[in-house]
Amino acid sequence: MGDIRRLGVIINGATGRMGTTQHMAHLLAIAAEGGLPLANGDRLIPELMLVGRDAGRLAALAAQHGNPSWTTSLEEALAGPDQVFMDCAATGDRPRRVRQAIAAGKHIHIEKPTAPTVEEAMELARLAERAGVKHGVIQDKLFLPGYAKLLAASRSGFFGRILSVRIDAGSWIFDGSEQECQRPSWNYKKAQGGGLALDMMAHWRYMIDRLVAPVTGVCALMSTAIPERVDEAGQRYTVDAEDTNYALLKMRGGAVGMINNSWAARPRRDDTMVVQIDGTGGSAVAGRFRCYTQSAAETPEAFIKAARPGGVDLMADWKEVPEQPGKPPFRQCWELFLRHVAEDAPYLPTLVEGAKAVQLADLAYRSVAEQRWMTVPELKL
Ligand SMILES: NC(=O)c1ccc[n+]([C@@H]2O[C@H](COP(=O)([O-])OP(=O)(O)OC[C@H]3O[C@@H](n4cnc5c(N)ncnc54)[C@H](O)[C@@H]3O)[C@@H](O)[C@H]2O)c1
Repeated sequence: MGDIRRLGVIINGATGRMGTTQHMAHLLAIAAEGGLPLANGDRLIPELMLVGRDAGRLAALAAQHGNPSWTTSLEEALAGPDQVFMDCAATGDRPRRVRQAIAAGKHIHIEKPTAPTVEEAMELARLAERAGVKHGVIQDKLFLPGYAKLLAASRSGFFGRILSVRIDAGSWIFDGSEQECQRPSWNYKKAQGGGLALDMMAHWRYMIDRLVAPVTGVCALMSTAIPERVDEAGQRYTVDAEDTNYALLKMRGGAVGMINNSWAARPRRDDTMVVQIDGTGGSAVAGRFRCYTQSAAETPEAFIKAARPGGVDLMADWKEVPEQPGKPPFRQCWELFLRHVAEDAPYLPTLVEGAKAVQLADLAYRSVAEQRWMTVPELKL
């Protein structure tokens, strides 16, 4: 029998959606199962310190989850012995909080986007590296069953030479006047870290880099479809961040990417987030849960048939990739990071990877401002 080891994790933003439903939930589940088994037979039990701004909500949240410690003072939490800092509070001002945590010697595991600009994101990566702490960003999407299958298809060489990747993502986000808005109002305020491109390029970058090839160029077009919204308190406010982002991408090796991402569109497809890869050897289309493939040998004639009355059933000649058992995505992110801290296991999405994601958003904004293609330079520590 190995030893029981305890690891204190500060969850800043515990009362938020991600804080409660993902980070707390999965760490508590690991603890409830008796800890994460490590290679040497020890078990690692995460112990939570919840941080937020509202004492009443924190106390209620703690009471519902076995009474972990909590505080409304980030300074107090950082002065304590807990070793890991997770920031899943609203995006705005994240770099300041991360700098504080690095200065306090904590290992850093944070939500995306890590910073509003690539310069700040790289500064955080360098600070963490220099301080000798472990660091990582949440990159959960490739652990979703549909995209995990897509990644497996890509790694197996199924696509042959990849020609293009197309991302269709988004759904209608109500403006809050008639029907409750499904996203926090800070998402629509630049100063608080809002903006669809900053939010979602953070995912598209690592997904495309790993599913296809590293992104080398971007040309974007953005807009604000709904200029006025109603916030959580029922107050009208002016939106100053984009809610729609179109982007063309170039990838190393010559593949082309297309991103069509909007919070003001009504999808008629399998999922609100669909990724299609076309290659000489075959194509695949994946949502969060399902993935369908069509190989070159199974590709039907559609051009001539589609022009006849009755058309053609374009959905018919696709094969669904069978289910693979897997743990929930955020659980996988945490297990990998906990192993990284506890036994120095590798962790791919460091703050440098986090900065690459911010870089794509940053360059997309500059592309819009300057109305031109932007080259994506390599980032180095
Ligand atoms: N990995 C993913 O797939 C994913 C999905 C959604 C959100 N996120 C990220 O997680 C973070 C939180 O998003 P959410 O949807 O849970 O938001 P949320 O608004 O539900 O939660 C944010 C929390 O931060 C608190 N907060 C707001 N302003 C703050 C401030 N100035 N200082 C400190 N705390 C503040 C709020 O009270 C709330 O508890 C964001 O950075 C977002 O980009 C990631």
